[in-house]
Amino acid sequence: MAVGQKLYEGKAKILYATDDPNILLTHFKDDATAFNAQKKGSITGKGEFNCAISTHLFKLMEANGVPTHFIDRPSANEMRVKSVKILPLEVVVRNIAAGNLCQQTGLKLGTILTPPLVEFYYKNDELGDPLLTFDRLQLLDLATPDQVDQLIEMASRINEILTNFFQQCGITLVDFKLEFGCVSSGVAQTEGSPRQIILADEISPDTCRLWNQAESDPDKRVMDKDRFRRDLGNVEDAYRQVMERVLNQTV
Ligand code: C5P
Repeated sequence: MAVGQKLYEGKAKILYATDDPNILLTHFKDDATAFNAQKKGSITGKGEFNCAISTHLFKLMEANGVPTHFIDRPSANEMRVKSVKILPLEVVVRNIAAGNLCQQTGLKLGTILTPPLVEFYYKNDELGDPLLTFDRLQLLDLATPDQVDQLIEMASRINEILTNFFQQCGITLVDFKLEFGCVSSGVAQTEGSPRQIILADEISPDTCRLWNQAESDPDKRVMDKDRFRRDLGNVEDAYRQVMERVLNQTV
């Protein structure tokens, strides 16, 4: 497969065209950013760790009937994916209060959320990815009411699958962010015909909060990007540890 033109370079990944218009190549970078790119750095090996973890978790999703953009992993930090139109939304699922939720509501870190919270943020760097209401989703024409229902259903199902999986790894899934894309539902795509929504982007310690169940100390237990965000140190070790535990569990 020939790698073509660079289509997009994001904070953590680069997207390339291939000789097949339906397939793109994602290159996972070691670069790390936080707080809307105000903090920048690099985490050695992150590209490979996140590519391996995402690959395994996308396979887990497919095995459980959740459609994803994943095709295969041709090299350590590259993933071939289906070409989709990414919805400009970040769907965040929260099982335990942390991060923004605590900052914006005053909820105590660690508060168990029953049922889990599903939130929508507008994927827009200039605006700082604001939290959206159902009405704002309609106002901005970001998703139809049916699509919102479908996204909530998919995000909740993904949460069930991931929570159980990470539990087997001795890891608590605190919260995570998902992105979805639309693909044509049939070969002959016509104007107005329904488009299938599938899971896209990545699932990794960059996009999840993961707490080591073997540690009770609130800083030591952190196995995700909060180690980078909060300068907790040992970021590479934490990502590697997540990868080893994830790959150790069969899908
Ligand atoms: O910052 P906040 O508490 O809203 O993050 C919730 C979850 O979504 C965290 O796991 C975080 O890593 C993830 N997230 C992300 N990309 C963003 C915002 C949040 O992966 N742009």
